[in-house]
Amino acid sequence: MSEVIKQQIRELLDQHNAVLLAHNYMRDEVQEIADITGDSLALSIEAAKTDADVIVFCGVHFMAESAAILSPGKKVLLPRPDAGCPMADMVTAEELEQLRAQHPGVPVVTYVNSSAEVKAHSDICCTSANALKVVRSLKEEELIFVPDRNLGRWVAKFVPEKKFIFWEGFCPTHERMTVSAVLQKKVEHPDALFICHPESAPEVSALADHVCSTSGMYDYCRTSPATKFIIGTEAGILYKLRLDNPGKEFILASPALFCPNMKLTSLEDVLLALQTLEPVVSVPEEIRVKAKGALDRMLAIPRD
Ligand code: 13P
Ligand code: SF4
Repeated sequence: MSEVIKQQIRELLDQHNAVLLAHNYMRDEVQEIADITGDSLALSIEAAKTDADVIVFCGVHFMAESAAILSPGKKVLLPRPDAGCPMADMVTAEELEQLRAQHPGVPVVTYVNSSAEVKAHSDICCTSANALKVVRSLKEEELIFVPDRNLGRWVAKFVPEKKFIFWEGFCPTHERMTVSAVLQKKVEHPDALFICHPESAPEVSALADHVCSTSGMYDYCRTSPATKFIIGTEAGILYKLRLDNPGKEFILASPALFCPNMKLTSLEDVLLALQTLEPVVSVPEEIRVKAKGALDRMLAIPRD
């Protein structure tokens, strides 16, 4: 049955000159059919440069919004409009403006896991893959970092010369990964390396052999001579890790590492979106232009 749906999706993608982008946390079958999978940075770059007419975004709302901000001439579809991000909802533009007013002249660095409106009130965006580079690119000594306190504090360790004002937002999925769960896995697999995402709590990141974005994990595990890894991020990442590294073993650090929002999108949802060309994600022009400024400043920073 799913082969029939996949075939229908492929035909409709062709028919509408559409591209299917999927985040590394999506269900296996959605990643399998995607034209491009990647982390938030790679998907933003792709959304900015694609010449498709339609972008089908399999991810959560803020990611589709970023695609709509970067590619105004294109139709951006989010097959599950109810796929949100609790971390993105932890800061509003009004709250950010109140904080800015307390710190005049201090630049705002905003993690892409945020609404278009919050981005519009920011100086520059970052993802987990480039947050350190973005912070280093600022000439100011002081900065406001929103909304992820864990990513912010992880970056801050590498730039002791900068003063951070943190927003206390967090990813509930990563914060459910406890120190005791990780230590238990380390006892069970003493020969494994522990890799985690910087959205993890600081006491968990402190246990890691390597901390990086989701795509960073693919690169690290592929090139590492190690053959066993405890993975500290959302379970969807295991699909491609196992596919690309058949001789290596990957163990999820905690059974709590499931993001309910990232798991919403099914093949049926993708098919329906392509059949109806809905639901469309769009951003009011005034907000879009300002948010694009913050995303463009981030994208102008060279990648490694
Ligand atoms: P990255 O794929 O950029 O590492 O992001 C992780 C995440 O939590 C996205 O919601
Ligand atoms: Fe948001 Fe965390 Fe889910 Fe990513 S994994 S969408 S940050 S709740």
